[in-house]
Amino acid sequence: MNTRSGTFAKRRPLAVISTLVFLLFGCAPIAQQEPPQPASVQAIAEGNIENGRKLFMGYAHFENEGPPCMGCHNLGENGILGGGALGPDLTNVSSERNDIELASVLSNNRWTKSPVMEPIYTQHPLTEKEQADLIAFMKSSAGEPQEDKELLVLGISILATIGAAIVLGFIYRNRLRRIRATMVEEAEKELL
Ligand code: HEC
Repeated sequence: MNTRSGTFAKRRPLAVISTLVFLLFGCAPIAQQEPPQPASVQAIAEGNIENGRKLFMGYAHFENEGPPCMGCHNLGENGILGGGALGPDLTNVSSERNDIELASVLSNNRWTKSPVMEPIYTQHPLTEKEQADLIAFMKSSAGEPQEDKELLVLGISILATIGAAIVLGFIYRNRLRRIRATMVEEAEKELL
């Protein structure tokens, strides 16, 4: 009996390790994805501005579940608080880059690529139609004022902090008083 439980104890780590190895590598996707294709000139000409806006802002989901552009980019007057600041402001990007270059960034194909976006949108490629709609949307914003919303965001954060302090102060206004009352009560009990 001793020997039996002994072998079991010795084998258990092996079972645990092989399960972990299976979970780590066995679940990795087996099939490689097709490299995404840049949107054709034809598709870009038919791009839908409104749909591009929804995709950019995250109101509509990308087919392959990529993150919305808004997380890293600002574009014109969109969004109350503006977009993220990791990527450049794209308001006037269409006056600096032509359609083919834009499609190249969005598909990680050809020469214009973003080292930050490439790993993300290689994993979650944008379809040709999505690229076309996004490009139409970016082109539609050219010339809009580029709003710097950092001050607004800062102001809102400061107000929210003060507000939270006031609300918490109100909720816990009796906290210390109650502790002191209990301490006094206990001290009195001990004295009696
Ligand atoms: C994780 C952050 C991130 C996300 C999400 C992201 N981008 Fe970018 N993007 C960047 C950065 C950073 C750059 C600048 C190049 C670089 O440093 O990689 C860039 C560059 C670009 C450029 C080229 C700008 C130029 O002047 O050359 C375009 C166009 C662009 N992004 C469009 C988009 C669109 C459309 C989406 C949504 C599908 C998107 N980006 C999502 C970070 C992001």
